[in-house]
Amino acid sequence: MRAVVLEGVGGPEQLVVRDVPEPEASDGAAIVDVRAAGVNFADVLIRLGRYPQMPELPAILGSEIAGELDGNRVMGFVRSEGGGYAERVVVDTRWLLPLPTNASFAEGAAFPMAFLTSWIPLTELVRIAFGARVLITAAAGAVGTAAVQIVRALNGNPIAAVGSVEKLELPRSLGAVEAVTYDALSEVEPVDAVFDLVGGDVFASALALLKPMGTAIAVGYAGGLWQDVSPTWLVGRNIGVHGFYLGRLIGRNPDLVGRAAQDVLRLWEGGAVRPIVGAEFPLEAAGGAHQLIEERQSTGKVVLIP
Ligand SMILES: NC(=O)c1ccc[n+]([C@@H]2O[C@H](COP(=O)([O-])OP(=O)(O)OC[C@H]3O[C@@H](n4cnc5c(N)ncnc54)[C@H](OP(=O)(O)O)[C@@H]3O)[C@@H](O)[C@H]2O)c1
Repeated sequence: MRAVVLEGVGGPEQLVVRDVPEPEASDGAAIVDVRAAGVNFADVLIRLGRYPQMPELPAILGSEIAGELDGNRVMGFVRSEGGGYAERVVVDTRWLLPLPTNASFAEGAAFPMAFLTSWIPLTELVRIAFGARVLITAAAGAVGTAAVQIVRALNGNPIAAVGSVEKLELPRSLGAVEAVTYDALSEVEPVDAVFDLVGGDVFASALALLKPMGTAIAVGYAGGLWQDVSPTWLVGRNIGVHGFYLGRLIGRNPDLVGRAAQDVLRLWEGGAVRPIVGAEFPLEAAGGAHQLIEERQSTGKVVLIP
């Protein structure tokens, strides 16, 4: 079968389409015919050699897919070693969900990572009261567009922060009550919660906006690692900081993640949220897909179509 192989650490040219052996299913797993594969920021970090848990290379990247299994339309996470950027992949049946009627395969591949990464912390780590102001950074991206919609669905008021003016409109169209670029963050009125996908200086600016009793959730470090925060400083400000990492939670608390998957799927089926697909590329253009994300030109989820 055809697959995109990451030959080594480096530029987008390291992603090459090759003929590779067919995957083999073991107990509790099934082979899905991939119709779309999500491209995640973490995949870009792996290609650049900057991911904390680097796979052995060469490797086939891709942690989420949508496709067909025995005539059924499905979506889900692939096993931790990846393999989604391919015509077929082994998937743990526990992490397969039915693709909603009328949803495209591209939307299915855009769903699991973005919506679970948003839903679990926004429902388990903070309490979003009616009208709560929730600041979301990288709000036009794959996880960000999911978070904006989820805060809306929870009756909160999403406030979107993005890296460029071109990205302001998308989160607004999804229900953000305010949208600003990072350089205008200091003008935002105080917020009840922060959902941060950027880290670095943006995280520091976002923390400064928290009201007393507010909570920040650190999720991504696309813009640089987070500053350290000491309990002394947190106590003095009456605020809290949580960290969230879905990959590890899947291993440590699969029951919680499984329940959350059912809950957030119902939200999609009920029409309260929908995955946003920003761009589709054939397998041969996987390098271009990575480049779009790395250069901060993507919005929503970037998807590969085998
Ligand atoms: N903890 C977890 O479990 C988990 C799970 C999934 C994703 N994540 C993290 O969440 C973040 C979003 O992931 P995603 O897949 O949805 O990606 P994405 O948001 O679609 O793309 C990354 C975005 O990060 C922003 N960014 C800020 N500084 C950047 C820089 N120096 N270089 C590149 N991008 C920069 C850009 O948006 P602006 O131009 O608007 O700033 C860019 O579009 C990533 O940091 C990812 O690693 C964490």
